[in-house]
Amino acid sequence: MRLFVALALPDEVRLGLSHLCCGLPGVRWVAPENFHITLRFIGEVDGGTADDIDAALCGIRAPAFTLELAGVGHFGDDSKVRAVWAGMRPQPALQHLHDKIESAVVRAGARPDGQRFRPHVTLARPNQPPPPSKMQAFLAQHGLYRSRPFEVTHFTIYSSFIGGEGPYYRAECSYELSRATVSAK
Ligand code: 2AM
Repeated sequence: MRLFVALALPDEVRLGLSHLCCGLPGVRWVAPENFHITLRFIGEVDGGTADDIDAALCGIRAPAFTLELAGVGHFGDDSKVRAVWAGMRPQPALQHLHDKIESAVVRAGARPDGQRFRPHVTLARPNQPPPPSKMQAFLAQHGLYRSRPFEVTHFTIYSSFIGGEGPYYRAECSYELSRATVSAK
């Protein structure tokens, strides 16, 4: 199975994000039900490793926190955009949770990620890079985007299935965070 660990988003935050999803020709917009914040992409693992990862994630103790999505951006340079995303206000508790998950999955047998964590919600992936002028217009139009602050009380491991109509993500298990909520800065 193909696994990743992510934060789900409240319905109204996903609805707000869906309103950003227009104005870029040549991209595949992410379906609103698929919006998430990836904490750790694990990839293809066998059932035994999946069980070990589940056990390791069960052992994580970290506080709940608030998040607020803010702004938009893209990965890749202007002429080679790889993904268009919504960002978020800095939240040290999110990095802390990410680091704990990284240690846990590596202890359970996954290869270390080695990349800097850049939290985001992917909105679109280009089939072909959008014209730079359209990309600039999109960034300017949505630069002031803000979600309402929302509480993150758990994280989830998903399995992903690639179908003809795009990916399907299934929540396999959620892991509670402790209730002393840390506010966004
Ligand atoms: P992203 O969209 O947040 O960047 C489920 O497939 C999620 O895992 C994707 O939404 C993507 O996160 C991340 N992902 C998929 N393939 C990946 C890969 N090869 N390396 C890193 N992250 C990947």
